[in-house]
Amino acid sequence: MKIKKAVFPVGGLGTRFLPATKASPKEMLPVVDKPLIQYAVKEAIDAGCEEIIFVTGRGKRAIEDHFDVSHELETQLEAAGKHDLLEEVRGIIPEHITAVAIRQSRPLGLGHAVLCAKRVVGNEPFAVLLADDMIYGGRNPALSQMCDEFEKVQSSIVAVEEVDPSETHKYGIVKTHMQSERTGKLESIVEKPLPENAPSNLAVVGRYILTPEIFELLENTSKGSGGEIQLTDGIASLLDIQDVYSYAYKGKRYDCGSKLGYLAATVEYGVNHKDLGDDFKFYLKEFVASLDD
Ligand code: UTP
Repeated sequence: MKIKKAVFPVGGLGTRFLPATKASPKEMLPVVDKPLIQYAVKEAIDAGCEEIIFVTGRGKRAIEDHFDVSHELETQLEAAGKHDLLEEVRGIIPEHITAVAIRQSRPLGLGHAVLCAKRVVGNEPFAVLLADDMIYGGRNPALSQMCDEFEKVQSSIVAVEEVDPSETHKYGIVKTHMQSERTGKLESIVEKPLPENAPSNLAVVGRYILTPEIFELLENTSKGSGGEIQLTDGIASLLDIQDVYSYAYKGKRYDCGSKLGYLAATVEYGVNHKDLGDDFKFYLKEFVASLDD
């Protein structure tokens, strides 16, 4: 079975980015010239997903508009002979891809957001991508690696990476029994443990492949850490009935939900940008040298 549907929970309030996120969604913050959500959607499409499901909240209309056709803009670009930009705009979402948006009535937590996608996903395994975790994976993006792994294990998979032990209280943390260089069988998972209670320093980051059994479990998950319905708690219940795997993806993650991570992504994507890269590197070198003066 292959993963064809990708869920993008974008209903969070993005409080760490206030006031920027007061009226516009965090996922629309641009890294160089594309919003965060566009990088994540491309990753899903490159991994073979054909149905994009946004779980949106208040003030998130801009995301739906971004992935909708804008006839007016396209006509104007065509008339102005701006063919490169026209291609760029048309390429945001290829024609064979469907995109739907579901409204999360209130931001009750990531687990609740995923549950909102139940009807559209139906009875098949699906991917979940958190756009604020931007992962550079080069030619083999993180979700593609996970889909390849899914073909082997046919079970739920959570993406993990090692974090500094002092940071465990910011993540879901897993205990896993390693089976190969990158894949482990999950033994337990806990949301935001203090360092002294953490079962390891392997943190879950924003890429998941989940089997549909998760929905019923999320329906029966009560509020957990932070008073929210946590996806981590749903996955902990899934572990009681099915195997779940951890996968240490190859790639570099930028936590664009935090200001520092977002700035790092902007600088590094700027340096690697095909048109801007050389000029931006030159600027950066001069700027850094001026800091030493
Ligand atoms: P975060 O923990 O980053 O929360 O959510 P947030 O609200 O987006 O940002 P801060 O912490 O207030 O700055 C992780 C992911 O889960 C989604 C968010 O949109 C983000 O992609 N989410 C969270 C929902 O879709 N709904 C929710 O109720 C909560």
